[in-house]
Amino acid sequence: MSAIESVLHEPRVFAPAAQTVANATVSGMAAYEALCAEAARDYEGFWARLARETLAWHTPFAKVLDESKAPFYTWFEDGELNASYNCLDRHVEAGHGERVAIIFEADDGAVTRVTYRDLLARVSRFANALKQRGVKKGDRVVIYMPMSIEGIVAMQACARIGATHSVVFGGFSSKSLNERVVDVGAVALVTADEQMRRGKALPLKRIADEALAMGGCDAVHSVIVDRRTGGDIDWIEGRDHWMHELAHAQGETCAPEPVGAEHPLFVLYTSGSTGAPKGVQHSTGGYLLWAAQTLKWTFDWKPDDIFWCTADIGWITGHSYIAYGPLALGATQVVFEGVPTWPDEGRFWQMIEKHKVTLFYTAPTAIRSLIKASDADAAVHPARYDLSSLRILGTVGEPINPEAWIWYYENVGGKRCPIVDTWWQTETGGHMITPLPGATPLVPGSCTLPLPGIMAAIVDETGQDVPNGQGGILVVKRPWPAMIRNVWGQPERYQSGYFPAELGGTLYLAGDGSVRDKDSGYFTIMGRIDDVLNVSGHRLGTMEIESALVANPLVAEAAVVGRPDDTTGEAVVAFVVLKATRPQGDEAVKLANDLRAWVGKEIGPIAKPKDIRFGENLPKTRSGKIMRRLLRSLAKGEAITQDVSTLENPAILDQLG
Ligand code: WTA
Repeated sequence: MSAIESVLHEPRVFAPAAQTVANATVSGMAAYEALCAEAARDYEGFWARLARETLAWHTPFAKVLDESKAPFYTWFEDGELNASYNCLDRHVEAGHGERVAIIFEADDGAVTRVTYRDLLARVSRFANALKQRGVKKGDRVVIYMPMSIEGIVAMQACARIGATHSVVFGGFSSKSLNERVVDVGAVALVTADEQMRRGKALPLKRIADEALAMGGCDAVHSVIVDRRTGGDIDWIEGRDHWMHELAHAQGETCAPEPVGAEHPLFVLYTSGSTGAPKGVQHSTGGYLLWAAQTLKWTFDWKPDDIFWCTADIGWITGHSYIAYGPLALGATQVVFEGVPTWPDEGRFWQMIEKHKVTLFYTAPTAIRSLIKASDADAAVHPARYDLSSLRILGTVGEPINPEAWIWYYENVGGKRCPIVDTWWQTETGGHMITPLPGATPLVPGSCTLPLPGIMAAIVDETGQDVPNGQGGILVVKRPWPAMIRNVWGQPERYQSGYFPAELGGTLYLAGDGSVRDKDSGYFTIMGRIDDVLNVSGHRLGTMEIESALVANPLVAEAAVVGRPDDTTGEAVVAFVVLKATRPQGDEAVKLANDLRAWVGKEIGPIAKPKDIRFGENLPKTRSGKIMRRLLRSLAKGEAITQDVSTLENPAILDQLG
């Protein structure tokens, strides 16, 4: 860990403008510090206050935090609420039924607006349809859908009847989908016939059919299909149903089912350093509180804002900052079906101009690729668009390099808009370490300070605090309401993975390395300390890709590492040993392409290795352990300066370099 040193020598500091401070909900550093002090003084009282102010409770809670079964913490356990009621009904009841909830822009640019009243009716109809199909409270429903109003409706409808949803990103393969359906024990699957990307229709129902045919899915009694394109699909009578037909046969009221605050709202699969993806289980009360509260704080959300988060509902960002947070606040948000580069790389800027977006939240990868595009073609440069509606910019998912930050700040935000670099994870439920736009002076590349109530710290391998300026392991010292509750069906994996005994058993281990600035105490994230890669902000376990490669009949052995990449942050590099002799020349090129396609089919296109190198062997110690640090150096094209004396087969390095 001592190898992690501060890489941040960033002298630029951007203090928030007086006007921004004056209008902000958390106005100035003193206000931020007062909230932190409140949490430090009375931790439970602080969270209880926020939970009462932010959410509507069907049965008020008396208990706040229960640590008796640590690390299986509970929050607001004796309280009851319904997430969908909080996201829809209460706004309509408060007289905001005509407020636009979703401005949906399709791939082809067509725009649909849905008010809170409409959305409530659509969610209620679909909730009734799920009930009619026999889906009950506590059942799991897998949602495998494009970015769509229907996807959000499906999530909210599950929440309304107390079913637990598990959304699977529409880019995942049939095999990945199958594994998730089986692991979560789904009884129903909601999908679409096809999805539209870059003007092209891509199959979803066909992949879902394949996934369900792979076995282990007998519990899935219903497949509900949204008709997005009308493209040709297969149909299994009795099992398959059109979403619109089911919904239209139903009434547009459906009483929300109150659930306990700890009831699992959803399970979302994410990659870890070992084993198959894990189902991160979230609660209802604590999760929803934080999704709403963080949007208010981090983006200083106000009722007039037009919020746009460009994430997909298949990831945690799309859960917290599309499907739940904005709706819980009664916000108006843009939801986008397409991609930032089609019909051209000006799409984001054009949409911000068109919808007068005020709060914009995207990933560093997208920013970096749009920088490149606008350098190459002035027509797609943000300067060509009217972005004056923007008020606050955000980033998420990976570290943002200071150059990209400055470009975003100057060219998109016109030097007016604070950038909130939000550090968080699938497991944390919502933002954890982030600037507050009307308070925190910004330093490019740093996610700055923990939100009030979040006890983030940096420790060494034994769980001891390290001084500022010294790198270490990022942990959270106290439980918080939106934290992961369990790894679905694997409590041991939850306990040992997130609260390892080596750190004392009570610290939440984030899996990232970090350092705090000597003077300001600001956090900078240095990336994962485990075998998890971050490619375009997507988490991928190296183990998962290795298993996919060795599942190919030609492959004997494979090792996967990450390499820094200008656009995607990290790129996947695979070292492969075939059962046959090592291929050379054209044959190696062809085999590499085949294996890339194979990984795309096994996991999904996001996991395809950028670079595949063949060797007769892998660099191993005499005890047979693959020396990954050597592979990382080889992947980067670095000269090997490490000690290779323990290496069984030093000659292999020439083959793989
Ligand atoms: C990384 C995405 C640096 C980090 C919300 C974390 C970040 C992982 C940032 C979680 C950031 C996320 N700066 N790194 N602002 N935000 N990360 O679960 O490595 O898909 O552990 O959640 O992304 O990825 P996940």
